[in-house]
Amino acid sequence: MASRARHPSLASLILLSLLAVASAKVFFEEKFEDGWEKHWVKSDWKKDENLAGEWNYTSGKWNGDANDKGIQTSEDYRFYAISAEFPEFSNKDKTLVFQFSVKHEQKLDCGGGYIKLLSGDVDQKKFGGDTPYSIMFGPDICGYSTKKVHAILHYNETNKLIKKDVPCETDQLTHVYTFIIRPDATYSILIDNVEKQTGSLYSDWDLLPPKKIKDPEAKKPEDWDDKEFIPDPEDKKPEGHDDIPKEISDPEAKKPEDWDDEEDGEWTAPTIPNPEYKGEWSPKKIKNPNYKGKWKAPLIDNPKFTDDPDLYVFPNLKYVGIELWQVKSGTLFDNIVITDEPEYAKQLAEDTWGKQKDAEKAAFEEAEKLQQEEESKDEPADSDAEDDEDDAEEDSDAESKLEEAEEAAEEAAKHDEL
Ligand SMILES: *[C@@H]1O[C@H](CO)[C@@H](O)[C@H](O)[C@H]1NC(C)=O
Ligand SMILES: *[C@@H]1O[C@H](CO)[C@@H](O)[C@H](O)[C@H]1NC(C)=O
Repeated sequence: MASRARHPSLASLILLSLLAVASAKVFFEEKFEDGWEKHWVKSDWKKDENLAGEWNYTSGKWNGDANDKGIQTSEDYRFYAISAEFPEFSNKDKTLVFQFSVKHEQKLDCGGGYIKLLSGDVDQKKFGGDTPYSIMFGPDICGYSTKKVHAILHYNETNKLIKKDVPCETDQLTHVYTFIIRPDATYSILIDNVEKQTGSLYSDWDLLPPKKIKDPEAKKPEDWDDKEFIPDPEDKKPEGHDDIPKEISDPEAKKPEDWDDEEDGEWTAPTIPNPEYKGEWSPKKIKNPNYKGKWKAPLIDNPKFTDDPDLYVFPNLKYVGIELWQVKSGTLFDNIVITDEPEYAKQLAEDTWGKQKDAEKAAFEEAEKLQQEEESKDEPADSDAEDDEDDAEEDSDAESKLEEAEEAAEEAAKHDEL
């Protein structure tokens, strides 16, 4: 009884989210189970040039559940294009939730992991880089400079990029990317069920001209005082300030023994900076009592702005498509969902990525360890020349000591956590 009374809101919250999940409309869902190929069309794009890459149906080299497969790019230097159709719908008056998981097993240094939503009629066999799309969403990595989540919206014949920077995940593990667009023209971007960015379609994309602009006619009033500090009128120059010389003759200096007044002229001591000298006097500064702040032109309604209440609407969504160029392959997509209910997508992420992530991480660390062991086996053996303490041996010795130290630190950290 007591505990129930203490958590009535939690119970009702759970009930609410269960109801939401139950009433969700799911426009498309792909978990890549057996038979997935029936729903997907591989494009012929780049086939003529032998540059069309093959998808591998797999759970990858490391995973949290070997039976939970997705599709992974499997050839380097290839284009990939594949799409699936769903019953056409409009997101008018509905929340649009677009979500998928992606894992870059190849340690992606330059390439995308994004998915597109397409509208209208698309020849899926010809789907490629030039095919118009409505939304493009997901991580994009290139070198050190580009590590971001793309969120591109097609509006009025142009593709508009999000203006805010949303950093993406860069490791080799599965992450879930979620894009939510609401009928009030707000949006949210989530990674692993955590909101990373949110705002308005009006302000975070240049879809429409801005609602308000600075009045181009406005001028700073003549009497606008924008000096934050002024000289203190009360402050007076101290008596005798200007009488203190900048330099004085060095009191320590002595006329050299061998100085010959007749030959060398009259001796004068060299000058040194005067420690008493206070510099040019200037009155101290005080806050200006008449300071009005920096002048800004007032904002007025932009005559070029005409509102579009359907700014968030994509009236003919009909396909989901993956179109990528990959230098290094190994990007694995899974659990794509398009729904009108964020709770549904959240639950799907929890049931897949959420349940598997710890096991996947452990499997990845194991794979890393194995690979490191393999690599050290491949290095020239240090068995024969035992007496020969060459640099290489010292290096690897130092390295293993470093590893030992790191392992010890990790152990210590674990204990701290407990
Ligand atoms: C598919 O992925 C699995 C797991 O990583 C791998 O063992 C296999 O070689 C891959 N197949 C192709 C054709 O790349
Ligand atoms: C669409 O773009 C054209 C060309 O840039 C522009 O003239 C027009 O005002 C735009 N329409 C809307 C609704 O933004």
